[in-house]
Amino acid sequence: MDPKLKKLLNASYEIGKEKELNGILLKLTDVTRSILDADRCSIFLHDKEHKELWTIVAHGVKEIRIPESAGIAGHVATTGESLNIKDAYKDSRFDKDVDKKTGYTTSTMLTFPLRNIDEESIGVFQVINKKNGKPFDNEDIDLLQHLSLYVASNIENTMLHEKVKKAGEDAIYRLSYATKFKDPETQSHIIRVGLYGEKMADALKWSAEEQEIVKLATPMHDIGKVGIPDRVLQKPGKLDDEEWGIMKKHSLYGYEILKGGGTTLMQKAAITALDHHEKWNGTGYPNGKKEKEISSYGRFAAISDVFDALTSSRCYKKAWPYEKAFELLREERGQHFDPKFVDVFLENADAMKKIREDYKD
Ligand code: C2E
Ligand code: SIN
Ligand code: SIN
Ligand code: SIN
Ligand code: SIN
Ligand code: SIN
Ligand code: FE
Ligand code: FE
Repeated sequence: MDPKLKKLLNASYEIGKEKELNGILLKLTDVTRSILDADRCSIFLHDKEHKELWTIVAHGVKEIRIPESAGIAGHVATTGESLNIKDAYKDSRFDKDVDKKTGYTTSTMLTFPLRNIDEESIGVFQVINKKNGKPFDNEDIDLLQHLSLYVASNIENTMLHEKVKKAGEDAIYRLSYATKFKDPETQSHIIRVGLYGEKMADALKWSAEEQEIVKLATPMHDIGKVGIPDRVLQKPGKLDDEEWGIMKKHSLYGYEILKGGGTTLMQKAAITALDHHEKWNGTGYPNGKKEKEISSYGRFAAISDVFDALTSSRCYKKAWPYEKAFELLREERGQHFDPKFVDVFLENADAMKKIREDYKD
């Protein structure tokens, strides 16, 4: 088989497995550089809001940002024409600033526009310095033209996928925060509990998909608090028995709200809400489940929620220092909490503190 074709087929197989734009672009530039025997390959994305072109990937270079009309890249983006430059420094359109910043010497460059199906500019695809020292030839032009179509449709699909994902994530965070009218829990608390859980799942070698589910299911654990009367939820002091009986219903209310959801994420979120106040030793609520009868999502949420509640102030108590909160997790290891999950939390104590600090109330 033609070695270039073989490289392309292998790359497209690898790209199919990649979910994030960054990873896809990295693989696309790697294979393009290799097939065209170029020293560098860059994909510039068109940021229309800031009127800039920027690269996520450029071999050996960090992010580059240039005005959308600057340089060869800007010319190609603006006009939609491809350009094959034999000596960049003799071309007045070339933007020497980029080389100045990166300490690189550009000589030959082949640049194609990236357009979406509506023929709008989404970026620029560029190879620089053919390794044999000659200009890019007709075969290179033909290859890069075809690759441009493939790259453009990949970028469009991935961005659409990320937009949809982001919309879902945003809706989860915003709706979990609907309890703000009832409860002092902040938007940051809601995000943090998911991130502690994600970190534990990562340390336990759960798959990326499962980690994502933990990250997004945990924030919904207290959504049932919308069904708890203010006189209970907002009471400044200790709850009496009647009030405590009402308060404990928030786990079941959350389960009822979420269980009708049609996705795995919502099913796990429902179970998280149901189980987040169960205790490893069987003394929790609402069902008094013990050990592995409690879903692992509920066991993650228990640790994350208590750690975050302890290190936060409430209408009935002050925030605890970290060491005191870690000490409580240690004391409750095998009592309130899954012993293995406590170990993982404590082994990652610095990462957990960082999450607490990065997402302040
Ligand atoms: P929350 O404030 O989000 O607290 C979540 C969990 O963190 C609590 O679940 C408890 O396990 C732990 N936690 C929070 N503060 C402390 C503390 O000062 N000491 C210890 N040892 N653990 C703490 P729990 O107990 O099932 O409470 C569920 C929810 O009920 C709380 O959510 C809060 O909204 C409410 N709540 C609990 N106790 C009181 C109270 O004394 N007064 C009022 N007004 N509400 C309370
Ligand atoms: C340009 O397109 O003029 C410069 C881009 C680069 O050197 O990477
Ligand atoms: C709040 O209003 O409770 C705080 C908002 C936030 O942390 O985003
Ligand atoms: C409470 O904080 O009022 C109840 C304590 C518990 O059962 O964990
Ligand atoms: C899991 O999928 O890890 C357990 C969840 C459950 O118990 O339903
Ligand atoms: C799991 O992957 O769900 C098992 C983890 C556990 O329940 O300890
Ligand atoms: Fe709760
Ligand atoms: Fe909570």
